[in-house]
Amino acid sequence: MAGDASEQANVRRAIEADLEAINRIYNDEVLTNVASWDFEAWNMAQRRQWFAEHQRDETTPVFVADVGGEVAGMSYLSSYRPRPGYRYTRENTVYVDPRFHRRGIGAQLLGVLVEEAGRVGLRSVIAVIEGSNDASVALHERFGYEQVGLLHDVGHKFGGWLDSVYMELRLPGPEGGLDPAAERD
Ligand SMILES: CC(C)(COP(=O)(O)OP(=O)(O)OC[C@H]1O[C@@H](n2cnc3c(N)ncnc32)[C@H](O)[C@@H]1OP(=O)(O)O)[C@@H](O)C(=O)NCCC(=O)NCCS
Repeated sequence: MAGDASEQANVRRAIEADLEAINRIYNDEVLTNVASWDFEAWNMAQRRQWFAEHQRDETTPVFVADVGGEVAGMSYLSSYRPRPGYRYTRENTVYVDPRFHRRGIGAQLLGVLVEEAGRVGLRSVIAVIEGSNDASVALHERFGYEQVGLLHDVGHKFGGWLDSVYMELRLPGPEGGLDPAAERD
């Protein structure tokens, strides 16, 4: 049952026991909407592997919003691109179960994620948003993300072409400076 509308969400790190709910929220979007451009629902083996990969690196955290013991949504940071030159950049994702929309939970989830992105020393966080998703664009703007790009017709799902809006949040970067030793010429 969805928690009472007045009940506050507690945003915390995800644990294994949250993975069923995370997968359900994600798969509902996959099967009914265009926020995700996956076509097939993920099975639990895929979800557990995804979680293990996120757990291995402090710069790819996963958070959930817990409302009265129920997972109402999740946010996470993922690799933006695999090459090491991108190591101070991550892509962010936020999903809220539709039963809990417009209760401030997306904002709570993104707020915690942005704070953590700063703490772990990221320089840039990218949101890649389907072009008609005004809710997500407005949410990200609230946290200081700026629109930096618009790609036309880069997706196709449910019979229609889809655009990608790129939004970027710029952060101070690693405390104590960069690690140029990691960069060979
Ligand atoms: C986008 C999403 C995460 C917002 O979550 P939410 O919990 O409903 O959002 P909140 O209640 O915290 O709203 C925060 C702000 O987002 C914006 N917003 C949220 N829903 C909106 C809507 N339907 N229309 C316009 N703006 C909206 C507003 O700026 C809002 O601030 P306000 O309430 O002060 O006006 C949610 O709609 C969702 O999960 N959508 C499906 C998945 C998705 O699109 N994820 C983003 C992928 S990039």
